[in-house]
Amino acid sequence: MSSTPPPATLALPVTDDALAARLRARMETVEKLLDGHVEGRTAYVTEAARHLLAAGGKRFRPLLVLLASETGEHPDSDDVLTAACVVEITHLGSLYHDDVMDEAALRRGADSANARWDNLVAILTGDFLFARSSELTSRLGADAVRIQAETFTRLVEGQIMETVPPADGEDPLEHYLEVVAGKTGSLIATSARYGARFGGASREVEEALAAYGEIVGSAFQLSDDILDIASESDDSGKTPGTDLREGVPTLPTLMAQSACRSSTDPADARLLELLSGPITDDGEVEEALALLRAHPAMEQARDYVVARAAEAKALLEILPRTPVRTALESFADLVATRTG
Ligand code: IPE
Ligand code: IPE
Ligand code: MG
Ligand code: MG
Repeated sequence: MSSTPPPATLALPVTDDALAARLRARMETVEKLLDGHVEGRTAYVTEAARHLLAAGGKRFRPLLVLLASETGEHPDSDDVLTAACVVEITHLGSLYHDDVMDEAALRRGADSANARWDNLVAILTGDFLFARSSELTSRLGADAVRIQAETFTRLVEGQIMETVPPADGEDPLEHYLEVVAGKTGSLIATSARYGARFGGASREVEEALAAYGEIVGSAFQLSDDILDIASESDDSGKTPGTDLREGVPTLPTLMAQSACRSSTDPADARLLELLSGPITDDGEVEEALALLRAHPAMEQARDYVVARAAEAKALLEILPRTPVRTALESFADLVATRTG
């Protein structure tokens, strides 16, 4: 066993002490289970699979499983813990693959697997983790396997669709929002759904929480896109500006492009030129970052995310006013306004 410490604090402010203590204790258990689940038959595979697990991460998805389970009658069931591991291991696998796609060198403050080893190791380790999460899901029954498979299909299709331009006549922003819902919204929706389901909530609550998770998940990705431009340091454990370098369109760049097209300001013309494709030159990345940070599109993007979080919170009205509902509301707020 490795000596990975569990996150010392929850990645979410929970004001109710009893709920916070329960979630912390359950997260500690999840952490130990995760460490065991990523173990392969050989030391080599275990080392590669444990690399990013041990590097850190916010553990948002398992935390959401635990939180959503608190809306049910038996939040302390072992199936909830299994479901929490399933979503984090699926997420982990997607990070190995994503860093290959994005040619990213840094992840969770550590070398990405493709940088530490190579693309082959990163891809196969991602596959190993996806397979592991499927094995684990089978403990939860056929329906859970179906949900996980559908989630994975959406996630991968979102990742693929990110690499192709919108179809003729398709609005680029619509295309992008569909990508985001697939690559990130889907798994966060399933995290909330699994929590409700295995914690013993009603079908109605499960559906409301899944819809909430889908919106919160998309908002989470959109605020991550904003941070890729706004953050001045690698506090996120990733390299800011990666989306610009890879020419990946994001909410702020799409909003900026749309505004620049109808502007006569030379700075806007320059920004439009810079955003027309991947930017390889470091000076040009800095120039594009500076122009974007000063552009009103950043505020417009932030407002959009805050509005989505409000929509997600409205779905929680089905729940009684309890500390769990308050924590789920804070989760949506945090996602919308996060700075790291
Ligand atoms: C990274 O997810 C990928 C996105 C969906 C933006 P997280 O921001 O949850 O990554 P970790 O798990 O904390 O590293
Ligand atoms: C996140 O991809 C989505 C998945 C990993 C499925 P991104 O490329 O947008 O996220 P970061 O910025 O690398 O975490
Ligand atoms: Mg990436
Ligand atoms: Mg990516």
